Amino acid sequence: MSNDFAHLHLDNTLYDLPIITGTTGERAIDIRGLLRDTGCITLDSGYMNTGSCQSQITYLDGEKGILRYRGYDIADLAENCLFIEVAYLLLTGELPTLPELEQFKYDMTKYSLVHEDMIHFFDHFPPKASPMSILSTMVGTLHDFYPEMDLDEDPYGGITTTTARLLSKTRTIAAFSYKKNMGHPLIYPRADLSYCANFLHMMFDRPNMPYEIDPVMVSALNKLLILHADHEQNCSTSTVRLVGSAGVRLYPSISAGISALWGPLHGGANAAVMRMLENINADGRDYQKYIDLAKDPNSGYRLTGFGHRVYKTYDPRATIIKKTCHDVLKTQKISDPLLDIALHLEELVSTDDYFIERNLYPNVDFYSGIIYRAMGIPTNMFTVMFALGRLPGWIAHWQEMNLDKESSRIGRPRQVYTGIPDRPFVALADRC
Ligand code: SDX
Repeated sequence: MSNDFAHLHLDNTLYDLPIITGTTGERAIDIRGLLRDTGCITLDSGYMNTGSCQSQITYLDGEKGILRYRGYDIADLAENCLFIEVAYLLLTGELPTLPELEQFKYDMTKYSLVHEDMIHFFDHFPPKASPMSILSTMVGTLHDFYPEMDLDEDPYGGITTTTARLLSKTRTIAAFSYKKNMGHPLIYPRADLSYCANFLHMMFDRPNMPYEIDPVMVSALNKLLILHADHEQNCSTSTVRLVGSAGVRLYPSISAGISALWGPLHGGANAAVMRMLENINADGRDYQKYIDLAKDPNSGYRLTGFGHRVYKTYDPRATIIKKTCHDVLKTQKISDPLLDIALHLEELVSTDDYFIERNLYPNVDFYSGIIYRAMGIPTNMFTVMFALGRLPGWIAHWQEMNLDKESSRIGRPRQVYTGIPDRPFVALADRC
């Protein structure tokens, strides 16, 4: 793949470092031989400039605002597919044929229950336990209830049993954690409902008040999950790959990814956006106070939902989510003041030099919570929704890492030591 080189001049020696060029022309300097050849490592805190692997799953262009799963544009997938079609695409590399989709739907129904012994776990979480800590715990524990098959035991190429179990049971665990938190009886999955309709059914149906499944909400949820399904080497996906590279099985690797997603700088941002909008609303809509706070380098405050490590233009997912937001609230005749606040905040930010100079635009998390709110999903479940969407992406990357000899080497970054150099030991009696 490499037909040109970067030249490194170090200690009067010239090193030729191969250039690797990706499918769409993006280039990387291959430094895999750097330490061996030069005795030097590189330093790149936060991996701002460092590629961890070569991958065929997702492509994004931060300058042009492009996002494609396995070569398909995100807008086409969000408009035309079921979430489980996109999950199939991410996991196998191809959109399913009708028979393949029917088999996948059957598997998702077949594996939608969780072991009844697992349900007792819910009784022992503290009453206000975070749904994210519950999700991470329960997903990790799936490993003990459902021994995972090795990839070569499980027919890789289709959807493995291990994968179908995880995708379906995680949705059930998420809904059950909400029901337990509400003190409501658990609602079990139905065989006649789609992935998204079943989730809303398990979340909101009640023996005394049957929940009428609204196709508008099902469609909006389907779109949201597709838009969250993968995003190449983000923090949580890199966590799944790193943990998996130590030989950790899929379920505990995903449990680690759930914990990484929880952070307010990552998947926790969708809930943080709602809190920010509610604070602005409660504070007499004093937008400028919050904008000025975010611009103050000493405040440590950020306008959450804005900015992105890769996108230096509008996040293409935010474009679709913003439109879906309008569509859902309009058809449902919902007037949510937080949408008005979000729209006005975006308008003010879009004309402020501080944000313009730093290419800070709304990201995937800025408008998504308003749709979840319209569905009746509580704020503390928003990042769980992100995890449900991202799950097929995490699994696809874990599989890709395991099936690729190069990237399945254990991930072990190096460092530059800046601590105290060598010094003589001091016995306890001599320490003052
Ligand atoms: C997700 O990686 C992915 O793909 C993630 C994700 C996915 O699908 O997996 O897209 C999902 O995590 C989206 C991001 C959700 N997080 C937020 O909305 C939190 C708010 N945003 C930020 O904190 C920030 O923008 C990050 C964390 C998203 C990106 O941080 P970077 O790339 O490390 O950029 P930075 O912190 O170095 O910021 C660069 C400058 C700084 O100012 P200066 O030092 O140059 O003066 O921009 C400023 C920052 O202070 N800045 C912000 C800001 N984000 C960056 N200032 C105010 N408000 C913000 N939101």
